[in-house]
Amino acid sequence: MKVLVVGSGGREHALCWAISKSPKCDKLYAAPGNAGIADVAECVKIKSDDVDGILKFAKAEKIDFVVVGPEAPLVAGLVDKLESVGIKAFGPSKKAAQLEGSKAFMKDLLAKYNIPTAAYGVFDEPDAAKEFIMKMDCPVVVKADGLAAGKGVIVCHNKNEAYAAIDHIMIERAFGDAGDEVLVEEFMPGEEVSFFALVDGNSAVAMASAQDHKAVHEGDVGPNTGGMGAYSPTPVVDKALHKKIMETIIQPTIDAMAAEGCPYKGVLFAGLMIANGEPKVLEYNVRFGDPECQVLMARMKSDVLEALLACANGTLAKTSITWKKDTALVVVMAADGYPGHYATGSEINNLGDARAIKGVEIFHAGTKFKGKKVISDGGRVLGVTSTGKTVKDAQDKAYQAVDAIKWPEGFCRRDIGWRALERE
Ligand code: AMP
Ligand code: GLY
Repeated sequence: MKVLVVGSGGREHALCWAISKSPKCDKLYAAPGNAGIADVAECVKIKSDDVDGILKFAKAEKIDFVVVGPEAPLVAGLVDKLESVGIKAFGPSKKAAQLEGSKAFMKDLLAKYNIPTAAYGVFDEPDAAKEFIMKMDCPVVVKADGLAAGKGVIVCHNKNEAYAAIDHIMIERAFGDAGDEVLVEEFMPGEEVSFFALVDGNSAVAMASAQDHKAVHEGDVGPNTGGMGAYSPTPVVDKALHKKIMETIIQPTIDAMAAEGCPYKGVLFAGLMIANGEPKVLEYNVRFGDPECQVLMARMKSDVLEALLACANGTLAKTSITWKKDTALVVVMAADGYPGHYATGSEINNLGDARAIKGVEIFHAGTKFKGKKVISDGGRVLGVTSTGKTVKDAQDKAYQAVDAIKWPEGFCRRDIGWRALERE
């Protein structure tokens, strides 16, 4: 098969790395890819949100299967366009991608089908939103409806903060059109986990759970990022909770989407809040998490390409997915200043030494070549990924690899996996 992976981050490097190992994969392309992806795929200079460019390339190269990494091309309808010309793709249709593309769509669906989530209101003008806030207990959470690159959520500790958040989104239009509507939500305390399931329209097969570390600094302090590290499996999701998540959240959502006339296929990424053993939905994403995908790919034993194909073919019920028992852990190395302003273009050395450590893989998130040198080209730059018998073992190896890498302009959190380590 000729396969094309769309995207250029650590998630897409992990997908390319896993897909390239499949005996079914004869030729692998990435659009646009990065310096690490170039090890396992041919990178083509087409941006991931250039829907028409991707369509043109896939037709010209007679691509058999397109795996879409990020949400933007999904929400823009890339999968619909590919399928309309007979090209198979992994990912939801434009309509089904609303699960991530519109928080109001997602919350209304959960409410209609009694799927557990925080109480909420949706508003298209600021005064009504403020009146609703007036009657709520604090903290409250204010969210822009549309895609805002993970920045459209503001946790407000008092009412004045919440009124200011409404003005920020609706009047200052900090997130542009994504703020045409706002959601105001009840705050849910608890522990967050990322839960993944593969879906083919009707059936869902659970993947593993993972835990992200969103804050930039150790101890979960500082501004939120796209994710500074992750590990899988998560001890907080035991067998009973896993079953509960599938039965009360994932399957009912798949059934609801089918009933609404927009059957879901692809990967369903549920951001969950767990309190007293009860899971509730924080958000849905219609793609793999980044960096969660890196640890999932490191742990997946079965053929990844076959599993993704089964989602597109509607044959998931006949496909089994097996996992390594080991823990996988990824430490993200980011450019100094991230998630605020950061520079690009600094040289990264000794990647070979780090990769030589047994059980370590380095997934590139934001790199490119300058001649033969690898240079930084983004905020999150590398995902140093390791597997080990225990969380401690995986963590030790990952930091050994981090220390082998010579990149003075980068930093990482030193406590990835701390919740699991405390349990271990
Ligand atoms: P979201 O993009 O909707 O997942 O929100 C980003 C982050 O804000 C989540 O990962 C949570 O840490 C936090 N958050 C969002 N909604 C809530 C809520 N209702 N209660 C508590 N925390 C929340
Ligand atoms: N790591 C969180 C996300 O991909 O949204």
